[in-house]
Amino acid sequence: MPGRLTGKVAIVTGSSSGIGQAIAVRLAREGAHLVVDYRSHPEGADDTRKQIEATGSRAVVLQADVAKLEDTRRLVDEAWKQLGGCDILVNNAGIEKGADFWEVTEEDYDAVLDVNLKGVFFLSQAFVRRLREARRPGCIINISSVHEEMAFPHFSTYCAAKGGLRMLTRDLAVELGPAGITINNIAPGAIETPINKSLLEDKPKLEALLKNIPLARMGKSEEVAALTAFLASEEAAYITGSTYVIDGGLMVNYHEQ
Ligand SMILES: NC(=O)c1ccc[n+]([C@@H]2O[C@H](COP(=O)([O-])OP(=O)(O)OC[C@H]3O[C@@H](n4cnc5c(N)ncnc54)[C@H](O)[C@@H]3O)[C@@H](O)[C@H]2O)c1
Repeated sequence: MPGRLTGKVAIVTGSSSGIGQAIAVRLAREGAHLVVDYRSHPEGADDTRKQIEATGSRAVVLQADVAKLEDTRRLVDEAWKQLGGCDILVNNAGIEKGADFWEVTEEDYDAVLDVNLKGVFFLSQAFVRRLREARRPGCIINISSVHEEMAFPHFSTYCAAKGGLRMLTRDLAVELGPAGITINNIAPGAIETPINKSLLEDKPKLEALLKNIPLARMGKSEEVAALTAFLASEEAAYITGSTYVIDGGLMVNYHEQ
């Protein structure tokens, strides 16, 4: 449905690839202007910018590491300066590092928690501060994971971060509701993106995973983007504090042996 976001401005973190890129392009197709954030792949961000501009929307490309507080503040400040405000924040940037729990290093713990939880926390804080000053409503959408609820052995840092995100969303829905700011999580299952590169290259592992998915395939970034566009639109105005699972049935798939 084109035009649902006409006149809105959105920041999408980590939008130089994968789910973030698909979301940025989809929000642009719905009429929003975009801040495209990237950490280390300017060529991917440039590709996102070109796709956004082809829809007729504006794109401001910024290098910002969401794990750094000054970078998160700059993202919001530039959205207001260059695009006149910011109505929608999509916290998409995320990383994962696999290791047995007893081998996890402090460095890897900090890296995963800093991007997946601390980054979301302080970027959302910067976003909310500007909205409160301007007395404007807004909408936050976090790209969480089925692993905000479901175990993922050997990825304890990822689970701790996404589980934290689940509770943060519920808490902020209550605290921000009176200001007209909604916040929801999207919990994707297995989506075909660069984060799953090693899985996609490992045929036996991939086949075993697909056996657990009732719809028998991985999801597409564009499918996550379609859900994001709905949650960012007026049609979802009464939804806050929720998690929307998009996983082909993975989480509910249990068989008695
Ligand atoms: N692909 C899946 O199966 C899947 C499933 C569940 C959840 N997710 C979540 O979806 C989100 C997007 O992942 P993806 O699958 O598109 O993978 P991806 O690796 O293509 O995207 C992650 C993006 O985040 C960016 N990023 C990483 N650290 C950053 C930082 N410090 N600052 C700014 N940007 C940073 C990366 O550069 C990249 O563009 C992540 O939060 C991930 O946890 C993915």
